[in-house]
Amino acid sequence: MTTLNINGETHTVDAPPDMPLLWVLRDLVGLTGTKFGCGIAQCGACTVHVDGVAVRSCVFPTAAVGERKIVTIEAVGATPTGQKVQQAWRELDVVQCGYCQSGQVMSAASLLARNPNPSDADIDAAMAGNICRCGTYHRVRAAIKQAAKGA
Ligand code: FES
Ligand code: FES
Repeated sequence: MTTLNINGETHTVDAPPDMPLLWVLRDLVGLTGTKFGCGIAQCGACTVHVDGVAVRSCVFPTAAVGERKIVTIEAVGATPTGQKVQQAWRELDVVQCGYCQSGQVMSAASLLARNPNPSDADIDAAMAGNICRCGTYHRVRAAIKQAAKGA
């Protein structure tokens, strides 16, 4: 059994140590806001925070989490930067189909938490691993800048 702190709650799960965190979140804990895209750390749909750092949960072994705190899209709005990011996302109507968007929001919130005034280059570097088949990149960047103004 593995005990994890997820969104401020303790969860004890029966997961093999090498099970990717994404499977634990979706299949064992029922937090389905985090999406499966590629399964090989190439698309960013599965991004969550581990102690505030954006990680690709599809390749992050559950045993590697340890005592660190996991935050998913279901709770990132309760964090100061997550709240600002989600507000900007709504105001600029960023979302198209939505599939990539929880990962986009998680990467953006992690960026702003460590860098409240990111340059275009900073945004590109932080968001490069989040792929959007609908091409929302321009609105994602604009929303990050708007969230930064309110940060
Ligand atoms: S599903 Fe994890 S990066 Fe694509
Ligand atoms: S909004 Fe459709 S994949 Fe990004």
